[in-house]
Amino acid sequence: MKITSTGLLALSSLLPLALGQSQLYGQCGGIGWSGATTCVSGATCTVVNAYYSQCLPSSASSSTPPPTSTSSTGTGTTTSSAPGSTGTTTPVAGNPFEGYEIYLSPYYANEVANAVTQISDPTTAAAAATVANIPTFIWLDQVAKVPSLGTYLADASSKQQSEGKNYLVQIVVYDLPDRDCAALASNGEFSIADNGEADYHNYIDQIVAQIKQYPDVRVVAVIEPDSLANLVTNLSVPKCANAQTTYLECVTYAMQQLSAVGVIMYLDAGHAGWLGWPANLSPAAQLFTSLYSNAGSPSGVRGLATNVANYNALVATTPDPITQGDPNYDEMLYIEALAPMLGSGFPAHFIVDQGRSGVQDIRQQWGDWCNVLGAGFGTRPTTNTGSSLIDSIVWVKPGGECDGTSNTSSPRYDAHCGLPDATPNAPEAGTWFQAYFETLVEKANPPL
Ligand code: BGC
Repeated sequence: MKITSTGLLALSSLLPLALGQSQLYGQCGGIGWSGATTCVSGATCTVVNAYYSQCLPSSASSSTPPPTSTSSTGTGTTTSSAPGSTGTTTPVAGNPFEGYEIYLSPYYANEVANAVTQISDPTTAAAAATVANIPTFIWLDQVAKVPSLGTYLADASSKQQSEGKNYLVQIVVYDLPDRDCAALASNGEFSIADNGEADYHNYIDQIVAQIKQYPDVRVVAVIEPDSLANLVTNLSVPKCANAQTTYLECVTYAMQQLSAVGVIMYLDAGHAGWLGWPANLSPAAQLFTSLYSNAGSPSGVRGLATNVANYNALVATTPDPITQGDPNYDEMLYIEALAPMLGSGFPAHFIVDQGRSGVQDIRQQWGDWCNVLGAGFGTRPTTNTGSSLIDSIVWVKPGGECDGTSNTSSPRYDAHCGLPDATPNAPEAGTWFQAYFETLVEKANPPL
């Protein structure tokens, strides 16, 4: 959602695939496992649970490089990795959005309903009210929000039965320790220095426990906005360098555990103005591919999510002048450039956030991401995407929720939220920003 970078940090050299040994982050044991039970040098086989042991870096401060090899082991199937799963699972077949009704977030509907009461102009208020019927993702940005997922799944399950439709619940998994390592606005609740990895596992376990109770409801998840893109371009930021191993381990854990309960996942892949720069495409593709194959090609991973909480067009009629120098000046061009570079069976399917992309050419620099002035709601979620690579246009960022505070004395104040093209008087990230919502409504394209 955030950073633009033409900069490219050298990723570590390819790891040799040692015969008979599992790679870093690979499986090395557990009930039903018949593969290698030892790990390559620098990794230790660690029991995660009775069903799953994993090769983890030998010590937290290990200098072991990240998994950047393109292993030849990706087969598209994986053995089960969590208690309660039923054995070998198969990859998601077809577009997971086809034939499903998307569950409307009650949390967002409530925010919108409150917002409408504050709009005096009846025409604008009526337009604003319709936003509650447009599906957005439900952000599990704190562990305290996880129980609400159970409530929504129960509701979706009962609607499914009463209406005779298939329901799909959209979530964002967003609680990594040392979250938002290259910025300040969305720093989260967990810290690597203070038990963050274990806290994150617990967060994922709680999500899994909720989902397991409703196997009849389909769940689609965006995994950890910005995290992997930060590992491609922002390892010069000490907090990101320090978080690298933890992010990789935690995202691997999330992919495996959520896969075991059937969640369909799109890993966040930044946007055209970030990983879409030619120098960044190949390292990004390598990172996604190696992470996926080293995790055992989790069957729930369907592809990548782009433009989350950003403002880029799917197809720009003319390139925004700020994109100059990047031939991939919109999300379609970025996706078409990235897809062929993904290897080792990585599923090249995409979803693209267009929630706030209705108005183009509004930024002073492509890297501006915070409450950009003049943005309007964009193309509505649809599976009519114009590309066989793109499963659906989606609204991931709930429009009206803030990107970051403009209060310079807040510990989460990020200078991007004080730029001339950022909307002033902004509250903390994730909280409601009424003035911003009203602009999104007024400038919606197509109109509401
Ligand atoms: C915030 C989260 C919020 C999300 C969606 C992020 O910028 O940090 O707290 O849930 O946006 O609005």
